[in-house]
Amino acid sequence: MNGQPLAYLDSAASAQKPRMVINALMAVYETEYANIHRGLYKISQNVTEKFEAVREKVADFIGVKTDEIVFTRNATEAINLVATCWGGSVFARGDEIILTTMEHHANIVPWQLLQDRIGIVIRIVPLRADGTLDMAAFAGLLSPRTRMVSVTHISNALGIVNDVSQISAIAKKFNPEIKVLVDGSQSVVHRDIHIPDLGCDFFVFTGHKLYGPSGIGVLWGRYELLAAMPPYQGGGDMIEAVSFDGTTFKPPPARFEAGTPAIADVIALGAAIDYVQGIGMDAIAAHEGRLLREAMNALSAIDGLTFYGTGPDKAGIVSFTADWAHPSDIAMILDQCGVAVRTGHHCCMPLMRYYGIEGTVRASFGLYTSVEDIEALSVGLRKARELLS
Ligand code: ALA
Repeated sequence: MNGQPLAYLDSAASAQKPRMVINALMAVYETEYANIHRGLYKISQNVTEKFEAVREKVADFIGVKTDEIVFTRNATEAINLVATCWGGSVFARGDEIILTTMEHHANIVPWQLLQDRIGIVIRIVPLRADGTLDMAAFAGLLSPRTRMVSVTHISNALGIVNDVSQISAIAKKFNPEIKVLVDGSQSVVHRDIHIPDLGCDFFVFTGHKLYGPSGIGVLWGRYELLAAMPPYQGGGDMIEAVSFDGTTFKPPPARFEAGTPAIADVIALGAAIDYVQGIGMDAIAAHEGRLLREAMNALSAIDGLTFYGTGPDKAGIVSFTADWAHPSDIAMILDQCGVAVRTGHHCCMPLMRYYGIEGTVRASFGLYTSVEDIEALSVGLRKARELLS
């Protein structure tokens, strides 16, 4: 990039794609493409089988049942689906949802839309200085009106890993009827996820951060919750029978998958899961842990940097500001050095407001990130400091 070797340190925004994911996409389009669930001919049946096999693979990947996996466009759509279909039928005016200060806008705005529509109340868990959740404050927010807790597993802006098992346990001890949604967009990428250990009721993630294509996401929900929810969108493939006198809907997950889905992208998501499982999620987490330590050692030696999210359990995400330059100016110099980072609020404006900053520079790691990439970041930052301070 800009005549330099690329140090891609923006995997939290979107990951680069392995050859086998690209090959899987090409194979579908070149040799076996047809619509699914509709054709009685061979290639339609083959591609339908491959599509549905990915549903099973996703379910195995996160330790749940196959008919609890709903394919969506992304994690954002998955949360909107839960807010609209579950929240829209269960919440009454004055009912409460608990979010946290570190949520991505995708886990704030859908609930604000429900606030406007129904009059629900949004309560916010504050953070401690190291960016971890104030769990005592969380427990204090639970009330007889609390219906849901919706929380990110790993903060995209800070890398902080939240103890969602503990969050679920506290909420359900207070009232077993409280539902817990976990945004796993970052955690499925960095950790081995076994949903039964998390004690949650809904879990969402997106394919493009997991080395798969963009435009494909996953909603997992407990079957009885999905079965009680009305459809999200109406259309083909989600109905049992349609007449002008009334329509009946298929059971989940088909009920929530109206229209032709992202066929090739789902199949390529399956290839992405094969790819990360081939390496091993624990090996990926260990690799990123080493890189995080390297990065913190290298960057701590540069004057004037303030780090955000310094708590003990962290994924491979480093967020910082400098007292000698604006994040955007730093990113421009890094760009010239071949180093790709994200700057700004990272879709977490309330979190930035909490810290009293406009944004940070964020370097985020993936399974392909190397020590050389960290070195390029460190060299680029020193150059930025020379030029900007
Ligand atoms: N949510 C993505 C990020 O953190 C886009 O950059």
